[in-house]
Amino acid sequence: MQIASYGNTARPFSSPSEPLARNSPYVLSVSSGKGGVGKTNVVINLAVEIQRRGLRVLVFDADMGLSNVPILLGLVPQYNISHVLFGEMRMKEVLFPGPEGVTVLPAGFGVQELAALTEEQQLRLLCETEELEEDFDVVLIDTGAGISPNVLFFNIVSHDNIVVVCPEPTSMSDAYVLMKILALRYQRKSFKVLMNSVKQEDEAARVLDRITDASQRFLGVSVRHFGNIPHDRRIAEAVRCQKPVVELYPDSASSQAFSQLASQLLGSMPEELPVGSLQFFWKRLFASDSSEWGGDPFQSRPTLVST
Ligand SMILES: Nc1ncnc2c1ncn2[C@@H]1O[C@H](COP(=O)(O)OP(=O)(O)OP(=O)(O)O)[C@@H](O)[C@H]1O
Ligand SMILES: [Mg+2]
Repeated sequence: MQIASYGNTARPFSSPSEPLARNSPYVLSVSSGKGGVGKTNVVINLAVEIQRRGLRVLVFDADMGLSNVPILLGLVPQYNISHVLFGEMRMKEVLFPGPEGVTVLPAGFGVQELAALTEEQQLRLLCETEELEEDFDVVLIDTGAGISPNVLFFNIVSHDNIVVVCPEPTSMSDAYVLMKILALRYQRKSFKVLMNSVKQEDEAARVLDRITDASQRFLGVSVRHFGNIPHDRRIAEAVRCQKPVVELYPDSASSQAFSQLASQLLGSMPEELPVGSLQFFWKRLFASDSSEWGGDPFQSRPTLVST
C-alpha cells in the first residue's frame, strides 16, 4: 500500500495566514457550466501558489471518470478515489504528492461507475474526508464541467464556489444555468466568478456585468468578480509539458495573475467557516436533530444529490 508523504513539505504559516489557525480546511469548488474553460489549470496553479504561501493544499480531483489533474501534472498515481469509493482503501492511502508540496487526491480514470456517485458513495466520501480535516488548510475541488449530480454534490459540500467562465456566450449561459440550479435547488447564495482566457479586459468586464446583473436580478444571488486570467500561450505550453504554468513560466502574464489571485483568496478567507464544509455537512447529516432532513437519517437516509 502506498502512503503519500503529503503535508511534510508545507512551509510553516506566515503571518497573513494566522487566521487559518483552525482545524478544518477552507473548501472551494472550481466548476464551470461549459467544459474546457480552464478549471483544471486554475486548480493546479492556484494550488501551487497557495502552497507557496505556506499553507497545506489538497487538490481534490473530482472529475470522476475523466480525471485530468494527474495528466496536467505528469503524475501516474497507482491508486485513486475509486479505491476509496469501492471500499478497498482509505483516503489517506490514495493521496499522491504533487508539485511543490501540494497533495493530490486523484479521481478514477475511465471508471464508468463513478460518473454519478450513489448515495452510499457520497456518504463514504464525506466520512473519509473527515480524516483529512487536520492535514490541510485549503482544499480545491476540480469538479468537472456541467450540471451533473456529481458536480452539484461537490459544489454544495464546499464553503465557496468558484465558477470559471471564458468570454464566450455559451460559457456565460452555461455558467448561469449552473448557478441557477445551485441557487434555487440548493440555496447557494454567492459565487466567485473567475474569467479565464481574457484577451480584452473591457470585453471581459462587459460580459461579467451581464452575468452579475442577471444573477442578482433573477436568482437573488451575489456574484463577485474573483479575477481575470489572461489568454496566454504559455498555459498551453505548460499543459504540453505537464507542469503548472506557475512553475514552468513564473514570469508569464498568467502566472502573475494566478499569484495575485492566490493572495487575494487568502486575504479574503473567512475566519469563521460558514456552513457547508465537508466535515460540517457530514456532522449535520448525522446530527441527532435531523428534522431538517425530514426524519432520522439512519431510518431514511437522505439523498444528498439524487443520481
Ligand atoms: N488562460 C489561458 N490561455 C490560453 N489557453 C488556455 C488558458 N486556460 C486554458 N487554456 C487552454 O484550454 C485547455 C483546457 O484547459 P483545462 O483542461 O484546464 O480546462 P477544463 O475546464 O478543466 O476542461 P474540462 O471541462 O474538460 O475538464 C488547456 O489545455 C489550455 O490549452
Ligand atoms: Mg478539467
